[in-house]
Amino acid sequence: MIFLGVESSCDETSIGLVEKKGNSYSVLANKIITQASIHKKYGGIVPEIAARAHVDVIDLAIKETLNEHKINKQDIDVISSTSGPGLVGGLLVGTLAAKALAIGLQKPYLPINHLHGHALSPRIENKLEFPYLLLLISGGNCLMVLVKNELDCQIIGRTIDDAPGEAFDKVARMLNLGYPGGPKIEEMAEKAVKKDIVFPVPLQHSKDLNFSFSGLKTAVLNKISKLQNIAEQDVHEICYSFQDSVAKSLAGKVNYAIENTSFAFGKKVAIAGGVSANNYIANKIKDKIKDKGFSFAKPSLQYCVDNGAMVAYAASQIYSFDNKIIDNDFINTKVNPRWSLDNLREFYTNE
Ligand code: KG4
Repeated sequence: MIFLGVESSCDETSIGLVEKKGNSYSVLANKIITQASIHKKYGGIVPEIAARAHVDVIDLAIKETLNEHKINKQDIDVISSTSGPGLVGGLLVGTLAAKALAIGLQKPYLPINHLHGHALSPRIENKLEFPYLLLLISGGNCLMVLVKNELDCQIIGRTIDDAPGEAFDKVARMLNLGYPGGPKIEEMAEKAVKKDIVFPVPLQHSKDLNFSFSGLKTAVLNKISKLQNIAEQDVHEICYSFQDSVAKSLAGKVNYAIENTSFAFGKKVAIAGGVSANNYIANKIKDKIKDKGFSFAKPSLQYCVDNGAMVAYAASQIYSFDNKIIDNDFINTKVNPRWSLDNLREFYTNE
């Protein structure tokens, strides 16, 4: 079976194709068209501009993906799109395109929760069995999730203010490093020679699974305003120290979840979302869990960022969940910019 996935919830227009043969899955295509250069001059995403940019490329992106991979549109079995959470304009563009295709081809349509796509994404390339602890870190989200199976995800921790990617983007803006900030800060941090600045590690001692990045952002702003002239080396050092605090905070919370809660993670930790592309952060988490006998998985870069393959993959996992075909008609389902990760089983199966 072939599953097509459309992703357009933020600033990437992406089309993925996943093939299911028996119990094995393979990604046939993952075309990603990023809007980063369009939003660069604003230092962040402008929702209306993002929606229009999706409109500009969506039809051609679907057509080219099929042509490049020599897939006849009649051969697609299930069509899916991200239908929330995200920016409403972008969600509408991708979802209307996917629904039009589904109606035209008379194929089933499945709405996909963006966070669900990220939650399952570490399984695309890794042999990662359920259950596992997932840290979902991106530009808009910071969630700790117990992924129990293909449908049941339980949120056990979340940010009380900013997401880590948002903090990376804002700190990069303070330092005039451009957008998106995450990759720039990681690159700058690698060049740091002096590592004397110490920023606070957010919620380091709080006995819970909450995250916070807004205070750290303010600490960086205060440091920058105290420096008269910022030399290249200062930028490197600030980037290093900021990234180190984010990494310590995330790794500390993973450790807390493992040591102080009774959730059954099956000795597996995974990370996903745009910030999981950060090697320094991934290594800090890996180091923290390695002596505890936990395995670690993360998606490769193309599946960390927003991408259509994870949408198609999620559709493939949902469609025959528990060996039963999901046969509800979702064509009238509205996009939901605030769709939560909880209660997906009820949404898809009415159970
Ligand atoms: O998952 P994603 O593509 O989009 C959503 O937010 O849904 O994540 C984008 C975020 C941006 O904030 C970007 O700065 C951050 O992921 N990011 C990184 C890195 N690469 C992307 N953050 C830290 N280090 C990176 N290498």
